[in-house]
Amino acid sequence: MKRQIKAVYPGSFDPITNGHIYIAERAAALFDELVVSVLLNPQKQATFSIEDRRAMAREALSHLPNVKVNSFTGLLVDFLRREHSRIIIRGLRALSDFEYEFQLALMNRQLAPDIETLFIVTDAKYSYLSSRAVKEIFHFGGPVQDMVPPGVYRRLRERFARRSITS
Ligand code: PNS
Repeated sequence: MKRQIKAVYPGSFDPITNGHIYIAERAAALFDELVVSVLLNPQKQATFSIEDRRAMAREALSHLPNVKVNSFTGLLVDFLRREHSRIIIRGLRALSDFEYEFQLALMNRQLAPDIETLFIVTDAKYSYLSSRAVKEIFHFGGPVQDMVPPGVYRRLRERFARRSITS
């Protein structure tokens, strides 16, 4: 039987944006299976609950049959072991992402030398896009419809009717 190659695309996805979707689509085209894993970090207050973040990602990626969405807490490399994967996918926007991503990749290599981090470069039109920017723009009444999928836009409206930005 042909070996199935599974990659993991981790992140906070608070919320998922069109930039994340672009990276997931490109990764899904390269691997047999892609697991999009939403980080539950008890030390960091996210804007959206883990359930909402997972639901938004699931909805946004439902057109990709080889993508599954779940969540993890603790070390990413431990999660990869549980998933029987050795590939971490991260998106790269501008040079400003590089230092953080380089550090993360080296730290993960130190923890698990057999796990590889692969970077997928974003499309130029998403190079400015981040979850944080989306929340801030939305909060101040700016247009974000072209930056996030419809399910995220709807939840942003619900969420910001009730509380302010926390991350
Ligand atoms: O979308 P983000 O917030 O840039 O994603 C960061 C993420 C989830 C990839 C990173 O914070 C992570 O892997 N956290 C899990 C904890 C961990 O493994 N830390 C060790 C590497 S420093």
